Formats: sequence, structure tokens, C-alpha cells
Amino acid sequence: MARTLIRELARLAGAQTGVRTGAAADPAETVTVHGWINALRLQSRMQFVVVRDHTGLVQVTHRRGGDGDPVEAALERLTPESAVKITGTVVANPIVKLGGLEIRPERVEIVALAEAGLPIDEHSGPEHRLDWRFLDLRRPERQLVLAVQTTVEQAMREVAAEEGFTELHSPKLMGAPSESGAEVFRVGYFDRTAYLAQSPQFYKQLAIAGGIDRVFEIGPVFRAEPSYTSRHATEFTGVDVEIAWIEDVEEVMAFEERMLHRVLSRVTERHGEAIRELLGVEPVVPALPFPRVTMAEALARLRATGWDPEGVAEDLDPEGERRLAALVAEEHGHAFVFVTDFPASVRPFYHHRRAADPSVTASFDLLWQGLEITTGAQREHRYEVLRAQATEKGMALEPLASYLDCFRYGTPPHGGFGLGLGRVLMVLLGLGSIRDAGFLFRGPNRLTP
Ligand code: 4AD
Ligand code: MG
Repeated sequence: MARTLIRELARLAGAQTGVRTGAAADPAETVTVHGWINALRLQSRMQFVVVRDHTGLVQVTHRRGGDGDPVEAALERLTPESAVKITGTVVANPIVKLGGLEIRPERVEIVALAEAGLPIDEHSGPEHRLDWRFLDLRRPERQLVLAVQTTVEQAMREVAAEEGFTELHSPKLMGAPSESGAEVFRVGYFDRTAYLAQSPQFYKQLAIAGGIDRVFEIGPVFRAEPSYTSRHATEFTGVDVEIAWIEDVEEVMAFEERMLHRVLSRVTERHGEAIRELLGVEPVVPALPFPRVTMAEALARLRATGWDPEGVAEDLDPEGERRLAALVAEEHGHAFVFVTDFPASVRPFYHHRRAADPSVTASFDLLWQGLEITTGAQREHRYEVLRAQATEKGMALEPLASYLDCFRYGTPPHGGFGLGLGRVLMVLLGLGSIRDAGFLFRGPNRLTP
């Protein structure tokens, strides 16, 4: 018999009692649901089973028939999380807490019996849950994260397509590190060493040099950072954007705002209710434009609040980011803030420096509720200036040769950003850790599953 999704049952039960149609009751509908055993209550006279599929939960109610009752025997063998197909009639029953309906089973097929004694439960810690991620994923709130992620990416692609972007899939195996070289994974590559891309940075710029006007990529990014925080992964999904012929980095920021506005609108439309219900979080579509503050202003204002990290800070530490977010929230009622004009000392060699003050870059970070979700910048497109900036940062030019060549034959001014998808989902869904903000987490101590 064809499968019926659990979310369809209410309509079928309603039809049968005439609730929806107002017509005389139809005969009870026979349905087959496919799903997992969410809960079992096997009493002396009655057997109650809650079945779950990806669309909801339904109670199955059976009055024991005694010897020779195959339904009773099958229900008796069940264990939590076993996979079953249950065929029966769906009836409205106001006594049933779960949606006011139940299935009276006629046939129970045990498709795959789960071993007794599940390795995780709702009290399990995050690492233990990750060990058993496939079981953890059976919880609706975990699946919601991936459903929202799908919508987030769709909305991003939607905006990018409307604005004339080309989607790239750049290689992740490289002959030289893609950024600083410090946080790079080395891999054996035949008789030499290859590096895993720390970002698509150089390749998206190569595309701009190739005359592709605007590019974006959603793909894996690798960072050999031994960080054990709630917001760091060693492999994560990056959203990278690069735009040619810009006059100012402001154009890049404006694009990112439009993109995030669309993302939050779509997520709210499609998942607002589920997010509220399962995660207790209220998604908010942000007002445009987002507040902007220069790094110099931010540092001055934070120092005025007593924030004073060791040494002479030119950059924000996580505590500074949180405090700044609190100030902005108070002043503008906004959860986002662009921090702009970072000092050249804390930015990579390829960031463009302001003509009026070369100690400052045309760059930005975007913070959302105090968490950095993006770094972006205008890039230095002048070959000689770029070489000089790399040398100044103490970088050898030889490993950069194929990148630097991109600036020898007419590359226009351009800029872009990199955004961490997991971090966006973390903030959006109020998740405590990036471990829950994607499919399978990768960290310094985690290579399986
Ligand atoms: O700030 P990052 O390192 O910047 C770049 O990769 C530049 N190439 C971007 C550019 O176009 N200028 O990384 C971009 C974003 C961060 O803001 C953060 O959201 C995320 O990637 N990110 C991480 N997410 C999870 N785990 C990590 N270890 C991350 N490192 C960065
Ligand atoms: Mg950054």
C-alpha cells in the first residue's frame, strides 16, 4: 500500500468524521505509515505505540486480541527506534493528546528491529551525541537545522542569480596555501605535498581576473586550527562572494545585507513556526541598512566601557565583539553590526588599503549577536602594490607566483567576503555550538562519523 505521511493523517481523520467537510461521515480511511518507534507503552489489555516519520508523530492503539493475534505479537517485539510499516484505519479520537487521532493497526511490519538499549538519550552530552549522529539526527529539532540550512542556501542562490552572479566550484587541493599558510592542512599528493584550501579566496579572484563579473561559491573550507570552542570547526561550509569593478567596499557590504535580508525572510516564511516550536527561538528579519562602526570608533567606545585586553589591542577579541554587540543593540535595536576599516596590521596582505590612510584597510567584519559571521574587503588589484604588501607581511613571493600573476594583465578593482554557514545557523537557531549547526562536525578531535 502507498505510504501516507503522518502530517496527512489529520486531513484523512477529519474527512472520516465529517469535521472538515461538514458532510456525513465517510468510512474510516486505511493508511500505511512508514517510520520509527518513538515510544512504546505495552499494557495488559492495550498496546500504545507512537510512530514518528519526518513529518510528525502518530499514536497507534491496539486492543490485545490474545493468542494468534499477529498485530499484538509484532507490537510486543518492538523496541524504540525500530523501523516499521503500519497499516490500519485512521480515526479521530479526542482523548488522544497527540493530534486527537490514532491508527488502529491491521498489519505491523517490522522492517528493521533496533537493538534494545539505545546508546544516546535526551540527556547525552554533545560529543556522545556526535558519536551516534545518525540517531541524534532522528530528533525533529536536529532535522530542522538541515531544513533551514537548505532554505538559507536556496535564498542565497536566489539573490545571487537575480544579481547576475556565476556560481563556482573551485578546487580544494592546492599547490600552495590559499591564505596565510599558518592554518593549512598538508596532504600527501603523489610524490609531493598538496594543501587543502583555507578559503576559495585566490580562486574567486582568479575568476574576477578572468572577466567573470560577480562570483560566489558555497563549499568546504579547511582550517588546521587547534581550536576547541563552540564556534570553530576544522572543516566548515563557506559562502564566498567576489564582485568586480567596485568603487568602494561599501558595495560589497550592501550586497551582503540584501543577501541576509532575503535569507531571513525566507527562513521566517518557511520555518518560523517550527523554529519557535522546536527551538524556542524567534527569527527576526533585520532592518536595512545594518549599523556600521569603524574599528577605531569601536575600540574607543569599548575602552570607555572598561574593556581593556592585555597589550595594545588593534582587533576585537570575542569579549570585545560581545560588548560591541550589546552597545549596538542598545543604541540601534539591531542584532547585526559591520565593523569597518580594520588596521592593516591585523588584516591579510591582499586587503586594499585606504588611499587617505594606508594604515587602514577597506575591510569589514560582520557580527551577528556578537559573533563574527563574515570577513570581507576590497582587494588590492595593483600588482606592484600587492607584491609590496606581501613582502611587508614577511611572505615569500615565490609560492604566491600563480596568484600574483592574476594581477599582471588588467584586473579591475574588486571585493568580496567569506561567510561561515554554520555560524549563521548557530545564531539564527540559537544553537549552543557549531557542532549542531551542520550535518557532520569536524574538529581537532573529530574525524568520525
Ligand atoms: O574570517 P575568515 O578567515 O575570512 C576569509 O576566509 C577571507 N578569505 C574572507 C574574505 O573574503 N576576505 O573566514 C570567513 C568566515 C568567518 O567570518 C567565519 O564566519 C567563518 O568563515 N569561519 C569559521 N567557521 C567555523 N570554523 C572556523 N574555524 C572558521 N573560521 C572562519
Ligand atoms: Mg575573519
